[in-house]
Amino acid sequence: MKIISLVNHKGGVGKTTSAVNIAAGLCENGFKVLLVDADAQANLTKGLGILEQKEGLYKSFVKGSKLPIIRINNKMDIVPNSIEFAGVELEISSRLARETILKKLLEGISKEYDYIIIDCPPSLGLVTINALVAAEDVLIPVEAEYYAYVGINSIVGIINEVRQQFNKQLRIKGVFYTKYNEKRVLTKEIKSMLMKYFGETMMQTKIRMNVALAEAQLSGKDIFEYNAESNGAKDYRALVNEILKK
Ligand SMILES: Nc1ncnc2c1ncn2[C@@H]1O[C@H](COP(=O)(O)OP(=O)(O)O)[C@@H](O)[C@H]1O
Ligand SMILES: [Mg+2]
Repeated sequence: MKIISLVNHKGGVGKTTSAVNIAAGLCENGFKVLLVDADAQANLTKGLGILEQKEGLYKSFVKGSKLPIIRINNKMDIVPNSIEFAGVELEISSRLARETILKKLLEGISKEYDYIIIDCPPSLGLVTINALVAAEDVLIPVEAEYYAYVGINSIVGIINEVRQQFNKQLRIKGVFYTKYNEKRVLTKEIKSMLMKYFGETMMQTKIRMNVALAEAQLSGKDIFEYNAESNGAKDYRALVNEILKK
């Protein structure tokens, strides 16, 4: 069993899209996967067609109750979220073991899955730290645009800190470009900045800009269900293969 967190404190870079489609790609390979929606915006939950969840991650975080799990299909489950999670960092901020809450919650159920994929909120606060403490691997989607590298040092900083304080085995499994536009060449500067930070962990696969990915999310499906022939499906399939080989 492996826990992978998708982290980037910028919003809109493709964390949620990647979480669901990497999970679906792993399911295609025969693995049993649990998705954890750790963002109060609940885009992952809604993007899988689940509406109005009363019992989400919030209650488990704050009261320690068992994780609520919803079955998507026979390979994929999700821990849903909802807007009430927005205040959770404040509520747990004075707890003694506030960084290890998610790790402990997942310990109880982890043996039922091959992979647990955690979709993080667009911040490097306590929830993302919880996701990093719980995980073995981090995947970092970066939007292929001019300022892609701005703020990257904060992500690397927090990963290093979590590694030192809580989780020695934590590693950056891969950094990959999302919303990649083949016609717009990324400047040498961006590529070399990212190479400097991440070196070998830069993935070969780039996720191209593909409207089917946004449409799939709106129709409550993963990209393989929505359009298995789309560039989005091809790219996420390639990314999953690369993740499995690494
Ligand atoms: N490769 C892509 N091509 C086109 N649209 C994308 C792509 N990746 C993500 N999107 C869209 O961009 C928006 C932000 O993506 P999302 O995965 O929600 O980012 P994050 O979780 O990092 O905030 C969503 O509307 C999503 O459908
Ligand atoms: Mg998101």
